[in-house]
Amino acid sequence: MERMRFGIVGTGRISDWVLKGAVMEPRFEAAAVCSRSEEKAREFGARHGIGKTYTSVEEMAADPQIDAIYIGTPNHTHHDLAIACMKQGKHVMCEKPLASNAREAEEMAAVARENGVVLMEAMISTLSPNFRNVQGKLPEIGTPRHYNAAFCQYSSKIDMLRRIVSGEESAPVPSSFNPDCSGGATQDIGIYTIYPMVTLFGEPSSVKADAVTMEVPVGGEMKKIDIHCTAQFSYPGMTASVTYSKIADSRLRTEITCDGGIISLDQIHISHGAEMIRRGAPTSGRTSGPQSVDISVPCDADEYLCEFTEFIDVVQSGARESVNNSLANSISTARVIDEIRRQAGVIFPADL
Ligand SMILES: NC(=O)c1ccc[n+]([C@@H]2O[C@H](COP(=O)([O-])OP(=O)(O)OC[C@H]3O[C@@H](n4cnc5c(N)ncnc54)[C@H](OP(=O)(O)O)[C@@H]3O)[C@@H](O)[C@H]2O)c1
Repeated sequence: MERMRFGIVGTGRISDWVLKGAVMEPRFEAAAVCSRSEEKAREFGARHGIGKTYTSVEEMAADPQIDAIYIGTPNHTHHDLAIACMKQGKHVMCEKPLASNAREAEEMAAVARENGVVLMEAMISTLSPNFRNVQGKLPEIGTPRHYNAAFCQYSSKIDMLRRIVSGEESAPVPSSFNPDCSGGATQDIGIYTIYPMVTLFGEPSSVKADAVTMEVPVGGEMKKIDIHCTAQFSYPGMTASVTYSKIADSRLRTEITCDGGIISLDQIHISHGAEMIRRGAPTSGRTSGPQSVDISVPCDADEYLCEFTEFIDVVQSGARESVNNSLANSISTARVIDEIRRQAGVIFPADL
């Protein structure tokens, strides 16, 4: 069994979370960590038993003792960091969203191909065992007619953000709400509803977004960012809709309505269970319909494990792309998000 030596970029909470799952993959080895601060790199290294630290991504990427890089930094940094690593011949697993916009995602995909390395977006939803099971069973229940997904989570940062906007607090706007960091609800959580839709059904032919936005103080001016949205999509013979929010919660299941029945997941971000209802004889009025069948499969020991298993499988198989988290899916998703942002009037510096 060949181990893959990873360098970790960024010492925020997401790097802590993913490492907890990554270390359960026997082929994973955390070989180095890179932070903008030597002190933070050493603290992170001590927490995770990583001895080697860097404060320069370029230097870490040049290290011949490292095979792959995980990028866990804000969205606006992904493009340049990933390209710097790939140009040194490193495989890259990059946090979602892959990039600020589709143009950047296309440039990153081109650099991956030119350098013969794997670039994979760390999109957990489409790699989780229950999603994959549903994906495999979908052809059993006929033609899909509607996809409906929701991911609404009252953000732990929204109250602070409101205090920043009102001037009660002087902290910087968190990256997930900061247009200069390519943040916002669509990039942060809407993507968990859109990427699976694109993986299952491809890129929609039309997008209609109804977004709630707010103005946040960034770089001495007020800039618009999206915080909640419902979007509708068209496909040949089917429709789709997603709702995501950082200002409200939802417990809605993700449902795919087909002409032969319904298949659903408990939640789209990280699914833990799935159900299927085969249509049976047509019913009307008060007649009860067919019963649902539990089609759940066991979850992994940790939610982030699947990303590392997939990534290492792809690299070691000699393939250069994941099938579910393909570069085409990442680029199509970025195009959909670009269109939602265009309709919402949310502009990033990376777009200009
Ligand atoms: N998969 C998931 O479940 C999940 C969950 C949350 C977030 N995410 C994704 O993870 C990424 C990070 O999100 P976050 O909320 O953790 O961000 P964050 O807290 O703003 O930043 C994470 C880390 O990135 C480094 N960093 C910050 N600003 C940087 C900059 N300008 N240039 C280079 N490095 C910088 C910092 O580490 P150092 O100080 O050590 O440099 C920081 O601790 C985003 O892409 C987000 O979408 C994924």
